[in-house]
Amino acid sequence: MVKVEPYIEKTIQKLKDTVKGHAIIALSGGVDSSVCAVLANRAIGDLLIPIYIDTGLMRKGETKRIQEVFGYMNLQTIYAGDRFLAALKGLTDPEEKRKAVGETFIRVFEESAKDLNVRYLIQGTIYPDRIESEGGIKSHHNVGGLPSVIDFDEIIEPISDLYKDEVREVAHAIGLPEEISERMPFPGPGLSVRIIGEVTTEKVAAVREANAIVEEELLEQFKPWQTFAALLGKGTGVKGDQRIHGWIMAVRAVESRDGMTAGPVELPWDTLRKIESRITGEIPGVARVVYDITPKPPATIEFE
Ligand code: XMP
Repeated sequence: MVKVEPYIEKTIQKLKDTVKGHAIIALSGGVDSSVCAVLANRAIGDLLIPIYIDTGLMRKGETKRIQEVFGYMNLQTIYAGDRFLAALKGLTDPEEKRKAVGETFIRVFEESAKDLNVRYLIQGTIYPDRIESEGGIKSHHNVGGLPSVIDFDEIIEPISDLYKDEVREVAHAIGLPEEISERMPFPGPGLSVRIIGEVTTEKVAAVREANAIVEEELLEQFKPWQTFAALLGKGTGVKGDQRIHGWIMAVRAVESRDGMTAGPVELPWDTLRKIESRITGEIPGVARVVYDITPKPPATIEFE
């Protein structure tokens, strides 16, 4: 790794030299865009307008937390959940869903940017992003496709020479909280890829709660590389004294180095039982909980 402090100084200086007007960045709350936003804010202050789009597919409490961490900046929050839901309506194919989210994201972002009349776009692209988008296994949604409508003077990618662990080091050094610097991966299309088939408000609400429970029970204690819940479909169950047709929720916890391959975490039985009892107990529509023990390959980490 490059030495962190000089790297930070150099990057801020470069941004100061290049950016001569308003700039925007799509802030997702992931470590890459967060690091870029802080560096750019240090370079140009309020000339930087971070735009955070709440897609309605975020995890529990995520939007509020982002507003707390980045509230000192000129942050714009765009609530666009209805648009994303409308774009996803009727779609069941995973790649079509990804595309719908990606395209909606770009459209919403462009509209906001146009209104603001900015000259520069800053992106949190990192080195492996280039390799991944060349690999093309999944149509990874990030804002790499931006922009087609707005005419920027320049698109700037301040940390495109860094690997993920280096970005985390920088994040730490610039004082970002650990929940961001050490954040586990969260896919751009958000909870939509953790719902098999069509996305509805009801399913998003259920899977969001289940994700929060899984994170609470597993993140701190087991420090998996990634962990989450996904909604698989419906099955029969008995709740109270009634037979119900309820959600089947899958729990996933994996070890991995880079997400290219992964193995299931061997969780203690007590932990699994507790997660099951919390998910079925706290989320009314859930009738069944399963633990996914499949490595990658043959499965992928996400369910879609
Ligand atoms: P898979 O499911 O392909 O995921 O084994 C590998 C890693 O990538 C994340 N992932 C995504 N990230 N956009 C993203 O930004 C996506 O469309 C996407 N799909 C998967 C996944 O969470 C895992 O960490």
